[in-house]
Amino acid sequence: MLAVLAGAVTLLALSSPPEHGKDLFARRCSGCHGLDTNKEGPRLRGVYGRKAASVADFEYSESLKKVTVRWDDAGLDKWLTDPDAMAPGTDMAFRVADGEERTALIAYLKILESSDVARALVPAGSRLVSTLLRPATQRNAAPEKGRDESLTS
Ligand code: HEC
Repeated sequence: MLAVLAGAVTLLALSSPPEHGKDLFARRCSGCHGLDTNKEGPRLRGVYGRKAASVADFEYSESLKKVTVRWDDAGLDKWLTDPDAMAPGTDMAFRVADGEERTALIAYLKILESSDVARALVPAGSRLVSTLLRPATQRNAAPEKGRDESLTS
C-alpha cells in the first residue's frame, strides 16, 4: 500500500510540473529552441546538468562562452530571469518574469535529461512528448474515413 502511494506521488511529481513546463516551453521557447536541433538558440535536451555554452555545433556569443556554470535550478532560474545579467550582451533577448513559470520550465528541462525514465513511468506523458515532436504535417496527415468515402463516391 505504501509502495503504491509512493509510486502515485512519484508519478504526480513527474507528470504535473513538466506538463505545465512543456506547455510553457512550446509557447515561449520553441520559436528559438528545439529539443534536438539548433535554431536561433542551441538545442536544449539535456541542458540540465550541462555546462553553459557547450553544444559543440552551436555558435554562442562570446559573452555566454565566458559563463562557467553548469546549468542547475539556481543557474537556470537566474538565466531565465535575466540572461543579460549573467552574460552581458548575450544573444538571448528573452526573459521569463514569472517565478512560478520559471520553476515549471526548469522542471520540464530537468525531466528531459532523464527522458527514458520519464517515458517508462509516464506513458501518457511520452505520448504527449511525441505528439509535440512530430511535425504538424504528419499530425494532420491521417485522412478521416468518412471524408475519404464521400470524396470517392
Ligand atoms: C528570441 C529567441 C530566444 C527565445 C525566445 C529563448 N531563447 Fe534561450 N537562447 C537563445 C539564444 C540565441 C541563446 C544563446 C545565447 C548566447 O550565445 O549568448 C540561448 C541560450 C539559452 C540557454 C543556454 C544554453 C546553453 O547551451 O548554455 C538556455 C538554458 C536557454 N536559452 C533557455 C531558454 C528557455 C527555457 C526559453 C523559454 C523560456 C528560451 N531560452 C527562450 C534564444 C532564445
